[in-house]
Amino acid sequence: MPGLSQRAAAMPASPLRKLANAAEERKKNGTTVYHLNIGQPDMETPVEFMEAVREFSQNPIAYAMSQGTPDAIDAWRGYYESLGIALEKNELMITTGGSEAIIFAMCAIADPGDNIMVFEPFYTNYNGFGKIGGVDMKPVTLSIDNGFHLPSDEQIEAAIDERTKAMIVCNPSNPTGTVYTAEELKRLVDIAIRHDIFIIADEVYREFGFDQVVTSLMSFPEAQDRVIMIDSASKRFNACGIRIGTLVSKNTDVIATAVKFGMARLSVATLEQQALIPVLKQAATIIPPVVEEYKKRRDVVYDGLLAIPGIKAAKPEGAFYIICELPVDSTEKFAKWMIEEFEHEGETVLVAPAPGFYATAGKGEQEIRIAYVLNVEKLGRALELLKLAIEEYTAL
Ligand SMILES: Cc1ncc(COP(=O)(O)O)c(C=O)c1O
Repeated sequence: MPGLSQRAAAMPASPLRKLANAAEERKKNGTTVYHLNIGQPDMETPVEFMEAVREFSQNPIAYAMSQGTPDAIDAWRGYYESLGIALEKNELMITTGGSEAIIFAMCAIADPGDNIMVFEPFYTNYNGFGKIGGVDMKPVTLSIDNGFHLPSDEQIEAAIDERTKAMIVCNPSNPTGTVYTAEELKRLVDIAIRHDIFIIADEVYREFGFDQVVTSLMSFPEAQDRVIMIDSASKRFNACGIRIGTLVSKNTDVIATAVKFGMARLSVATLEQQALIPVLKQAATIIPPVVEEYKKRRDVVYDGLLAIPGIKAAKPEGAFYIICELPVDSTEKFAKWMIEEFEHEGETVLVAPAPGFYATAGKGEQEIRIAYVLNVEKLGRALELLKLAIEEYTAL
């Protein structure tokens, strides 16, 4: 049999997959599983989208322009305009989710062997996206003790070397829920300018700031030629499955290059791009109730976790995730045990062990990530189960 590529061997499988399989087994056997492991929102996709799908009449459904349909591009520009980000038509492209936008951004700016600086714990798929382009992730470790805010400039700059082409900044952060302040972002902008590197600004949770407005990295004029913003309809519109995102930059060479990659995959799904237009036009009324709901959940989860003896957590400021430290030796083992063996009245919980969110071996071993994508009532029960599981596990 012919051998596979080195790239194939280097490609990480999702660290969450094994546990997800175990969860399916448990469900088959009649156990209820509370999924706190992935960022799959449970709220409804806007009616505006569903109606637009029903009314869609293009036949045959044709390829769209590689950059996106002109109407959808204009709708996204209108949405950004309302956020104070004025864009020309050649400063954004529509992508198959934020995921494709990240792959295109990395491939547009980095060659195999180059690296991208990242703050860990980070969105674990950055590893996989990097591997597609042969690009390594160069971690700067954050700490739960200051709510995963930035360390000193010296610590950050120590991770930058001659092969560093960019830093990737997820704000608000998946997996920590941290919202970086405007001052922190300004420090990052200055560092990027000092080292002449790009900034990939992953802002797919932009509106999800609970206690403060989230500053976009697009709002720093001095960094306009180096900021590449990633965006997505998945989270703010509860529409993960429509696979629509954007790649945005004032650096039109970056966009023109990404559009060339886009030409090779021809286009993004025509129907979904078009059906999102009325949603983008109503974004200002659709998004706030969604954020309010997550804020309520944030309070329930944070207060609930702190009430469990031995748990350490920083209060998330945005997105819908929290990283917390448990009083167990290994959260990999604990999470596996909880999904394979533990139950209370026929119910158990699936969480994500945090080591998968770190590039540095040995980090995050006592931490888990929780995605609070269940309603308040279910979250309350899931936390109760977590508490019982910790008691039982630590007594073993
Ligand atoms: C931080 C972050 N960036 C990008 C993505 C990818 O989003 P999409 O569904 O648009 O591909 C996700 C999805 O979970 C995410 O959490």
